[in-house]
Amino acid sequence: MSPSPDGPNSALLSRIDARLADLVPVVLAGQQGLEAAMRDSLLAPGKRLRPLIAAIVAQDLGGPLDAALDAGCAVEMVHAASLILDDLPCMDDATLRRGRPAIHRGHGEDVAVLASIAMLTEAFAVLSRIEGLSPERRNAAVGVLASAVGALGLVGGQYQDLRGGRGPRSAQDIGDANGRKTGALFLSAVELGAIVAGATPGQRANLSAFAAELGLAFQLLDDLLDLTADPAAIGKDVGRDAGKSTVVALVGVERTQRLVERHIGAARAHLETVFGADSRLDALVCSLALSARKGSGEPAQALEQESGRR
Ligand code: IPE
Ligand code: IPE
Ligand code: MG
Ligand code: MG
Ligand code: MG
Repeated sequence: MSPSPDGPNSALLSRIDARLADLVPVVLAGQQGLEAAMRDSLLAPGKRLRPLIAAIVAQDLGGPLDAALDAGCAVEMVHAASLILDDLPCMDDATLRRGRPAIHRGHGEDVAVLASIAMLTEAFAVLSRIEGLSPERRNAAVGVLASAVGALGLVGGQYQDLRGGRGPRSAQDIGDANGRKTGALFLSAVELGAIVAGATPGQRANLSAFAAELGLAFQLLDDLLDLTADPAAIGKDVGRDAGKSTVVALVGVERTQRLVERHIGAARAHLETVFGADSRLDALVCSLALSARKGSGEPAQALEQESGRR
């Protein structure tokens, strides 16, 4: 599920990767082990969806790309930090991430935790020094990311997932946890793009609604992959959700696929009110849904037909 090197966003992806390499936190002399863990985590081949979304939102609203890239890279730093923690033995106990050993397997649990904290912290520093952005917008950006990460956002969602996920949960509770642990970072990517570009309140409301639907669809697709995908294809462990109360466990694969379609459809409708039909983000959402569903083994012909349908 890595982005295609010659796909429509390849130029943007190259800029994101180059900027991420610049933003790896600086370490003290002799602490190359810490730096190596952060590099392995941040620069490993992920899909870079969150920075892509931030950059495209800002660009397509007429905002400055350099500032949007930094804002998106800050979200990617938080995302990478969260994946380190999520893979730890005390959380999902995963061994493989982005096609490589999970950070704690390659660098030790102690260094993994420190690398995560350092990247998380640096993400806020990156936002605080974005060039070409007014102090008010920088402040707003820091507040948005803090809300996405904190106890009401990703951290709260991970807690719900870890402590609530082993017992029975309603579909609403699972959706609430998914919205926090996964949706919150998509929301921050969209909001940061909108802040950088000076979007109107109406545009921001529609983009936030888009991100919420996308986040829910994305976690459901990820849960389907955990059940059906080949670890070599997705670069991470599968079967880690066994015994957990996910939507897939609750309603089965087919109904989950239909829920994904519903969330994707709602996401695209919100997007259309801001950017019209056939926007760059719309194409990204469609290709994401298609590649995830291919990874989960659905017949390709049916998928191609469906992806052409609106
Ligand atoms: C994985 O996110 C964690 C979830 C929120 C499900 P991604 O699927 O975006 O991971 P990378 O960045 O491509 O590795
Ligand atoms: C993780 O959800 C979301 C985070 C906040 C890291 P998962 O546990 O399903 O993500 P993967 O499948 O390990 O990437
Ligand atoms: Mg998890
Ligand atoms: Mg996990
Ligand atoms: Mg998963």
